[in-house]
Amino acid sequence: MPEFHDAMPTDWVEPGWTATVDVDGTPVAIANVLGEFYAFSNNCPHQATVLGGLPLARNCLITCPEHHSVFDVRSGQCVVPSDDGFNQPMPVFETRVVDDVVQVAI
Ligand code: FES
Repeated sequence: MPEFHDAMPTDWVEPGWTATVDVDGTPVAIANVLGEFYAFSNNCPHQATVLGGLPLARNCLITCPEHHSVFDVRSGQCVVPSDDGFNQPMPVFETRVVDDVVQVAI
């Protein structure tokens, strides 16, 4: 059963950006989507390229720099396949904000 862990203060990542944080020993990427926080795998589900630290497009999309899969960080859905046709979703994690701290369920 996943449990919530403190991940980072809400002001660590600006709207339209992502950051990598260590959550209970697991590297997780967190995105700020117009003030809402979403957590997802820090590694692309295709070939594990690091996604945290990249900017968002259209406020909620992240493009893997390696083979260009595009994922919606809110759902993990792959909305544009990679150059070689990979189109599987990326893992996402539940989040909540408590006292200006983003918590992630791992
Ligand atoms: S490693 Fe991300 S699309 Fe290939």
